[in-house]
Amino acid sequence: MKKATLNATTQTSPAGAETMKAIVQGEYGAAPEDVLRLAEIDRPTIGPGEVLLRVRAASVDRGTWHLMTGLPNLMRIMGFGFRRPKAPNPGRSVAGIVEAVGTDVTGFEPGDEVYGAGEGSFAQFARARAGRIARKPADLSFEQAAAVPISGMTALQAVRDGARVQAGQRVLVIGASGGVGSFAVQIAKGFGAEVTGVCSARKVELVRALGADHVLDYACDDFAAGGHRYDAIIDTGGNSRLARLRRALTPGGRLVIVGGETGGRWLGGFDRQLRATLLSPLVSQKLGMLAASENSADLSVLRELLEAGTVRPAVDRTYPLGEAAAAIRYFQEGHARGKVVITV
Ligand SMILES: NC(=O)c1ccc[n+]([C@@H]2O[C@H](COP(=O)([O-])OP(=O)(O)OC[C@H]3O[C@@H](n4cnc5c(N)ncnc54)[C@H](OP(=O)(O)O)[C@@H]3O)[C@@H](O)[C@H]2O)c1
Repeated sequence: MKKATLNATTQTSPAGAETMKAIVQGEYGAAPEDVLRLAEIDRPTIGPGEVLLRVRAASVDRGTWHLMTGLPNLMRIMGFGFRRPKAPNPGRSVAGIVEAVGTDVTGFEPGDEVYGAGEGSFAQFARARAGRIARKPADLSFEQAAAVPISGMTALQAVRDGARVQAGQRVLVIGASGGVGSFAVQIAKGFGAEVTGVCSARKVELVRALGADHVLDYACDDFAAGGHRYDAIIDTGGNSRLARLRRALTPGGRLVIVGGETGGRWLGGFDRQLRATLLSPLVSQKLGMLAASENSADLSVLRELLEAGTVRPAVDRTYPLGEAAAAIRYFQEGHARGKVVITV
């Protein structure tokens, strides 16, 4: 890794490779200002099946924070890097312009405006597998498009595949003001469901504006109280006990646990997801977790929903690349209403 240089103007490295500005991370840590820095590094090289993107915008999601902190520890065992991150350049969700395509890539050419899941998108250039990007929605800015990929694909798969939401069903989205939840509310509405969103008091207006029919404040409203029963629950926030989630589900209802952040340093709540999956065959309700897949087909489905106006990204703030640490700090402190975007 070359020395950090905030105002570098270098265009080639000593080895002659073209360089770029990028956020780099050499160690795990909880303070973004301590572990992330802007540096001048070599541009990524692409392999067969990959494209090189000129990044225009990228977005922060909970995964960015997990990879920055190395928490929960389970992640380190799963291969993301035991003592330090294996991938030194953070950032996944991206919108940008195709700069070059690798051998075997069909369907994209230099100049195409695309969005999707890349590697190291907090940078001027990023690599992406061709199977994980798609044409950018026509009417969206790069900033709006960058807010969509990881959160949007996760929400789509939770609503469509996990919860199998049908028109007329009652759906509960826990964490409706977050990245995944803000898309899940809109997608479930688009499928014709009656949606109840759960969030903090200060974000109730956002969740209403996203189209939720009812909004509950998790600090004072108990979604499982009062005899309400939901056909589907999509859980993206907090760490509600399984028994409580099941109480709020109809006898044949479907629970999809996407994630949650209060499950401890070691497992991060994964034990709850595992218990749900193991219990499911023994009860009438369908209980499960989601492992989102990143793929062009779902990005194309999202593009249709975005172009039709059924879904719109809730972009809270944008930060320039050099202030990526401040963007993550803002997200981490729970201020974000929807998505935080980094512009390049
Ligand atoms: N399974 C997968 O493939 C997959 C993919 C993507 C993400 N995830 C996981 O899904 C989760 C959500 O990700 P994200 O990017 O949407 O995170 P996010 O933007 O931080 O959203 C978190 C949401 O949880 C809400 N929340 C916080 N505490 C809560 C509580 N006690 N009860 C109910 N809701 C609470 C927040 O509400 P307020 O902001 O209003 O407080 C916010 O709406 C994370 O755990 C992430 O790791 C999993």
